[in-house]
Amino acid sequence: MSRKTELENSWQRNADNWTRAVRDRLIPSRKSGTDAAIVDAIVRRNPSRFLDMGCGEGWLVRAVTEKTDCLSTGLDGTAALIDAAQATDPDGCYRTLSYDEVIAGSPVPNAPFDVIAFNYALFEEDVVPLLTAAKSLLVENGVIIIQTLHPDNDPGDGKDGWREEDFAAFENEAWAKMPWYFRTTESWEAAFARAELRLETTYGLKAHEDGAELSLLMTCAFESVPPTKED
Ligand SMILES: C[S@@+](CC[C@H](N)C(=O)[O-])C[C@H]1O[C@@H](n2cnc3c(N)ncnc32)[C@H](O)[C@@H]1O
Repeated sequence: MSRKTELENSWQRNADNWTRAVRDRLIPSRKSGTDAAIVDAIVRRNPSRFLDMGCGEGWLVRAVTEKTDCLSTGLDGTAALIDAAQATDPDGCYRTLSYDEVIAGSPVPNAPFDVIAFNYALFEEDVVPLLTAAKSLLVENGVIIIQTLHPDNDPGDGKDGWREEDFAAFENEAWAKMPWYFRTTESWEAAFARAELRLETTYGLKAHEDGAELSLLMTCAFESVPPTKED
């Protein structure tokens, strides 16, 4: 089985556990600041349309809609997570759509968006096709905001490559292992350049000034288009 398939299958298996972990606030880094940081980064943009890619059980869509009153959409490839999102927020707009379907051009409700977020939802080796597809769903001055593991917290050798999350911290054996691709900050920058996105800001989030990094928060926008020369 390819890692990509294994990754997608892990979420089918982990949907109930994941919903519980998020809703019962079992993930320490989320309580320490990563949830607040992504909400703040989005709300500060005052979006009128917001897309959460890989939205899971929908907490971020609910949080942003509550604070901004914007039209929000949540997409995820795992039907059980979208069902959980829709059941909790019956008036919200959630769709079961895989990243491959988005790349292939499946329509996304409420597009185009001012802000598209990936909150711990980019795990594949090649993220360029998805970033390119996401870019095509943005208004001209829109942004893509990504929160991900900080490279200082790599459980491996600090070089790009596959890792495996076993969710052991939850002390619950029912989790399926999830393969995910680690990339350095330079590798993220190279991916943005290949998707013709400009990295606007990079922020290493810490719980305390002298503490360890909690996450890496990056905001990307369209590359500025140089004025065309007329001969
Ligand atoms: C770590 S969870 C994060 C969920 C949510 N963003 C949050 O902050 O709680 C990763 C999410 O990415 C989704 N995902 C992973 N690979 C995907 C793919 N190829 N297509 C669509 N969704 C995918 C999973 O279903 C899962 O909901």
